[in-house]
Amino acid sequence: MTVAMRILWCLVSLVIIAGVSPYPEQPEAELDWWQTTVFYQIYPLSFKDSSGGGVGDLLGIAEKLEHLKDLGVGGVWLSPIFKSAMADFGYDISDFRDIDPVFGTLAHLDVLLIIANLSDIRVILDFVPNHSSDEHEWFVRSLQREEPFTNYYTWHDGRVDTAGNRIPPNNWQSVFGGPAWTWRPERNQYYLHQFDPKQPDLNYGNPLVVEEMKNVLRYWLDKGVDGFRVDAVPHLFEGPIDAPDSETSAPTHLPETYEMVAEWRKVMDEKSVEYGRTKVLMLETYGTINQTMGYYGTDDAPGGHFPFNFRLITDINKLSTAEDFSRTINEYLDVMTDGRTPNWVLGNHDQHRVASRFSRELVDGLNFLAHLLPGIGVTYNGEEIGMENTLITWEQCQDPQGINAGPDHYLEATRDLERTPFQWDNSTSAGFSSNETTWLPVNENYKELNLEVQKTAAKSHYKVYKQITELRKTRTIQLGGCQVAALSENVLAFTRTLESEDTYVVVINLGDQQETVNVKATFEYLPDQITIHIVGVYSGHMAGHSLSTTSLVLNARESFVFRAESPDVDDSIIILPCSLFIMIIQFVVRYL
Ligand code: GLC
Repeated sequence: MTVAMRILWCLVSLVIIAGVSPYPEQPEAELDWWQTTVFYQIYPLSFKDSSGGGVGDLLGIAEKLEHLKDLGVGGVWLSPIFKSAMADFGYDISDFRDIDPVFGTLAHLDVLLIIANLSDIRVILDFVPNHSSDEHEWFVRSLQREEPFTNYYTWHDGRVDTAGNRIPPNNWQSVFGGPAWTWRPERNQYYLHQFDPKQPDLNYGNPLVVEEMKNVLRYWLDKGVDGFRVDAVPHLFEGPIDAPDSETSAPTHLPETYEMVAEWRKVMDEKSVEYGRTKVLMLETYGTINQTMGYYGTDDAPGGHFPFNFRLITDINKLSTAEDFSRTINEYLDVMTDGRTPNWVLGNHDQHRVASRFSRELVDGLNFLAHLLPGIGVTYNGEEIGMENTLITWEQCQDPQGINAGPDHYLEATRDLERTPFQWDNSTSAGFSSNETTWLPVNENYKELNLEVQKTAAKSHYKVYKQITELRKTRTIQLGGCQVAALSENVLAFTRTLESEDTYVVVINLGDQQETVNVKATFEYLPDQITIHIVGVYSGHMAGHSLSTTSLVLNARESFVFRAESPDVDDSIIILPCSLFIMIIQFVVRYL
């Protein structure tokens, strides 16, 4: 090897060593408000009833914003509060620009926005663009073929079968079950509804609809909201109606859908400039990883600020191994390139409660995951106290998806179980309402499982949650690198590291057996002892204790966040001796 080649080799090793350093450099640019925050989803019907009607409302939310402030969340997303026929509990909107009387008035929203602003909490509304209610004026007038509304929805004459009967134009079924087409004799045509028959699909092939809906965005942004969660995005466009009978649902994620999202992003960006802070677009886009990534858009045509990452819901369950978790998380982190902001969703109003999907004992560990991995954390109301699914009888079932499944199967389909009232305290209706009767029943466990009890208990999910949001303020959690690995079949761990900052290590035993693991064998840069920073409520350990990284004993479903002090060694100090060492070895091999 020539001298020149040896120098080159050393330079290469220098770059390699710098590349594998677990302590990424401090970034130059700071992050925007929405990139570091926790978004807290409120299901307004079930959060807080201020009027005694048994149904949650806007003034109830305003009254309880102090809880969000106390939790340390920075953004609140309200599921729909607009005028609605309530067939899908707000997701069937009959006036996109008004508040449903159940929730209050536009003035009540103003009150909420003022209090939120004073509390430094940003308000995000739900934008439901795919469909309106069949009680919306547009639909009523479209039914009469009144211009310009005639083609605001997707109408079709249907087909005639061999027996001469009129049948729907194709075989598409609705997401809630049953055909996606309903006949209206008033117009002698079928209309398309990918969800409930009371949720006719808007026709995005019609430029008038496109403009109407952009104006809906502008209208609420001008009222002072800071962004939107966009509902059912993949369903916006469906493609040709003359689909083969083998196609049983309308195609989703079509290219036009991505283009539409980019159009909305332009509206958001214009308003961000006008109001001097970023108005954020977060998207509900269940799909494959590639389909979802497309919604970030491109540099030339940015899409949403972030499509929700539902992997912890769709790809993981109580039977998943640590390797399944690690693979799922790493697959996602691997595609977080080109400035994409990651996010983690554990639950929402369409998914069973975390404590019921996994186990009570894993609530804290899973909150560690969703809120200490890089990026945005999303919490569904009640998950901060580990609320559980509520058993609903067939007679109590409200959700159209449950009702369509019938009395024998409604429990497999209904989303009512995760939508029952928030459990504030042990008074009437868990402090949710002064009314003993509520729109969905309060979970019977509310006397033991409620916020007030958790505030006074020595250990509670609430207290752990607050420690997590506090930890999220550190530079390591906001900006640091992340390594995720399975340490055994059931033990999952990840580290968060940043140059000149403390390191954090999360270790979760997903299994129901005690385990002893060697954390240092995987994350060799950790010291031999690390200090417990946060501990899950079911652990016998206390914060402040030090435990061994080479032989860490975890009880069944025990989870920890450890802290290790900054190694105070910057990369150049490591790299230089390493490079010299490599040069000496080369020299010895070559000449001695
Ligand atoms: C979304 C909502 C869900 C609703 C559906 C139709 O998936 O999250 O609750 O039923 O869209 O609007």
